[in-house]
Amino acid sequence: MIETKDVQEPAPIAQARATARRLSGKLLIDGMLAHARGSRTFPINNPATGEKVALAAHAGVDDVELAVAAARRAQVAWAKTPARERGKRLIAAAHHVAQHVEELAALVALESGKALRTECRVEAKGVADALEFFGGLAGELKGDTVPLRPGVLSYTVREPLGVVAAVLPWNVPVMLMAVKIGPALAAGNGVVVKSAEEAPLGVLRIAELMNEILPKGLLNVLSGDGPGCGAPLVAHPAVSKITFTGSVQTGKLIYAAAAAKLVPVTLELGGKSPMIVLADADLDRAIDGAVTGMRFTRQGQSCTAMTRMLVHDSLHDAFVSGLKARIDALKMGDPLQEETDIGAIISRDQFEKVRSYIELGRAMPGATAHECSAVPTDPRLKGGFFVRPVIFTGMDNNSRLAREEIFGPVTCVIRFSTLDEALAIANDSDFGLAATVWTRDLPSAMRAVNELQAGFIQVNQGQTAGMNISFGGFKQSGLGKEMTLESMLEHFTRSKTVLINFE
Ligand code: NAI
Ligand code: MG
Repeated sequence: MIETKDVQEPAPIAQARATARRLSGKLLIDGMLAHARGSRTFPINNPATGEKVALAAHAGVDDVELAVAAARRAQVAWAKTPARERGKRLIAAAHHVAQHVEELAALVALESGKALRTECRVEAKGVADALEFFGGLAGELKGDTVPLRPGVLSYTVREPLGVVAAVLPWNVPVMLMAVKIGPALAAGNGVVVKSAEEAPLGVLRIAELMNEILPKGLLNVLSGDGPGCGAPLVAHPAVSKITFTGSVQTGKLIYAAAAAKLVPVTLELGGKSPMIVLADADLDRAIDGAVTGMRFTRQGQSCTAMTRMLVHDSLHDAFVSGLKARIDALKMGDPLQEETDIGAIISRDQFEKVRSYIELGRAMPGATAHECSAVPTDPRLKGGFFVRPVIFTGMDNNSRLAREEIFGPVTCVIRFSTLDEALAIANDSDFGLAATVWTRDLPSAMRAVNELQAGFIQVNQGQTAGMNISFGGFKQSGLGKEMTLESMLEHFTRSKTVLINFE
């Protein structure tokens, strides 16, 4: 039984609960909400309270077949629709989504445990923004002309790839959906989305809203697990592009599936991103940047989280105490309440994983765990997956805590004395997603920018990537870029060369 709430709640939250019940057990295939062919479902619980929010449909091979076929049918006509017309439809869909931001934010908060004010509302607005951005870029799907000789016209045209499979993670589920489907649809592709097990509801609701504007069948949504739904989707012979965000391990499986049929992939994988605070840095600014960069209000569940804070010896103690004070001031609590800054970890598995890393760190000789903020005392939240943010000091860059992606509110502060040393530590990682550098000295900043092995580098700020900011990692952090015109052209189209001899 899915629980309903009798107490008076703000209208968007009540609406989100009703939406969750209505979408319970459903997939979106060929413009219709439908149960999975096998009628299998799995529960979606609120990570903060344990409350049952909905059931999610467990799609299997038959559903994959239907969804890909629907996307393929719709895509043929969509590809022939003039590009700017497609863009206008996408912008109309974006505006429609924007009308439902409050409901979407509450829905994502319910399923993910992320706080409404600090995270979910920002994310839901970001969805509309991303769709609008890519809608506006549809007219830029241009080719080139090449001056070969007077009697030959040589040019290139951009064509869509066909059906795109978008496999999503749970940490920023709706934003990452928009970042993938926006360019895919603008470029004239059909899409089958596979939502993450832990966060299928916001994704399904957005697709439902967009389906009210877009041609039927163009955008389909499946939920289910990796082996039963994700794997057959990416392996499907009619899927001609795969875009994925998630773990390195799954990214490699997807790359192998793409290699088997020789189709392109975009992979946004993990990170172990360094933040370098030099001796001359503005300390207050750096501490603010550490709070946002580490995504403490997202429980640290971010691929770009600054999980290795490299701080100059002279600032180390002041940085740690200042950071602790800033995190202590953040309120952990019910994600649905406006005053809450930090919510709950997404799932029991992730909760256990994060806690096991904290235990590992505590047991490490020389390391100290500085626990921050406080778990909520509200009895309703007693069984919630709340973890106090932890700053580890005395940690070596060779420790597992500094090398492996934890995906929780856990960061390591590591000392250094020279820029050479800091850069060597920063680059000593399998990952290369993001980095930040904090200094007032331009030559030092530029040296760091030039030498850091990371796809996204910021100096004196630690913001999230957004539209028009090319985003993607080096090394084990992935392949390809997202969020720009160039990424749409490169990853969601193919270029055809034409020579016309009219001599
Ligand atoms: P995951 O990479 O296994 O799952 C991501 C998506 O891939 C989900 O939709 C899942 O169903 C799907 N999937 C899994 N196996 C598949 C397969 N064989 N073929 C096709 N699709 C498949 O990540 P998971 O298990 O949710 O989290 C594990 C760890 O991954 C986290 O603790 C975190 O360290 C990392 N992660 C990184 C993210 C990022 O933003 N880079 C996002 C989510 C997780
Ligand atoms: Mg997994």
